[in-house]
Amino acid sequence: MFKGVKLPQWLLSHPHCVMRSTVAPMTGTDPRTEDAAHWQSYWRQQQAGGAGAVTSLDQNRVFAADWDAFFLKESADRAGHRIIDLGCGAGLVLARAKAVPAFNENALLVGLDYAEAAARQTSNLAGPGSATTGVAAAITAAPFKDQVFDIIVSQFGLEYAGMSAFEEAGRLLAPQGVMRAIIHYKDGAIHQECRNNAEMVGAIRRSGLIDDTKRFFSAVQAHQQDAAQIMNTANVLRGNQTADVPARPVVQYVVDAVLRFVNRPQAFARQEVLHWLDGVAAELDVYAARMNAMVGAAMDEKMLQSVSGSLSAKNIAVHQLGPMYLGGVTAPAAWKFEARRRGD
Ligand SMILES: C[S@@+](CC[C@H](N)C(=O)[O-])C[C@H]1O[C@@H](n2cnc3c(N)ncnc32)[C@H](O)[C@@H]1O
Repeated sequence: MFKGVKLPQWLLSHPHCVMRSTVAPMTGTDPRTEDAAHWQSYWRQQQAGGAGAVTSLDQNRVFAADWDAFFLKESADRAGHRIIDLGCGAGLVLARAKAVPAFNENALLVGLDYAEAAARQTSNLAGPGSATTGVAAAITAAPFKDQVFDIIVSQFGLEYAGMSAFEEAGRLLAPQGVMRAIIHYKDGAIHQECRNNAEMVGAIRRSGLIDDTKRFFSAVQAHQQDAAQIMNTANVLRGNQTADVPARPVVQYVVDAVLRFVNRPQAFARQEVLHWLDGVAAELDVYAARMNAMVGAAMDEKMLQSVSGSLSAKNIAVHQLGPMYLGGVTAPAAWKFEARRRGD
């Protein structure tokens, strides 16, 4: 737990885990451990003002307006104001809750994310009124007692933690509480763009451009033949970029830089070029992993029907499940999912 309100003990199932602000332990063989590291590195970059756009789509404005309407509606008839955002990132959704007066006074706003850098950013959400508290933990191991949150929200968060994340959200949901999520739509507009991004960035790595350029600069004597081969790879990569997605300028930037280095190797300090290439390779790998995580997280209707079935068995009724669209895009962008716990 970071700066922000001190969470009451009665809310916590194992307070020490939260108080130490550790990421809830996951086994080394769990692929999510690696995913957590990628997200951690992404949110660190964000904090430093880096990290490029995920999609070219106008999603933030559309989703923010949707959350505004939801929080306004909920503020009218909700006595308790305990809100948690699962997979909160930098707290975009909680910031919308804070904009509603009822949730900006005496509310408990908690953001949970397994990337500590994200939980920290959520704790630092600016503005007067209710403080927000970031908790670094996995969604499937949320350190809270049963049925303690009146409102549970998630924007592209739950689905990353798999189907059991919905059950965990259900466990946390208070009687008459509402849970609401915006979820990646399998084969939808955002999914498609992430897939294109991953493909483009993956193509650079598979082409060997960076490794070959490193070998070229590491050699005692630069070989013209190797330079010709690298230039050829670079030109093929450039020619293959047809999709107009955010990864495209990234790929162009890398290809252009490599061509500059290889065209005039004597103009650059060898160590600096090698260092730059290592940094770029690492960034591209993190970016591709994040895009692939998004692609893998996307859900189809059948999966969400199955989630509805298991929630229903726990006395939680799904009453809204449908596609959301972004302006000017015909393919659905996301799922809107809303469920309420019946009075126990
Ligand atoms: C696509 S981002 C969305 C962030 C934020 N909700 C937003 O809309 O800006 C997904 C977030 O979920 C977090 N996440 C993914 N899997 C998680 C898990 N198993 N437990 C906790 N957080 C997770 C990531 O660290 C990341 O911050």
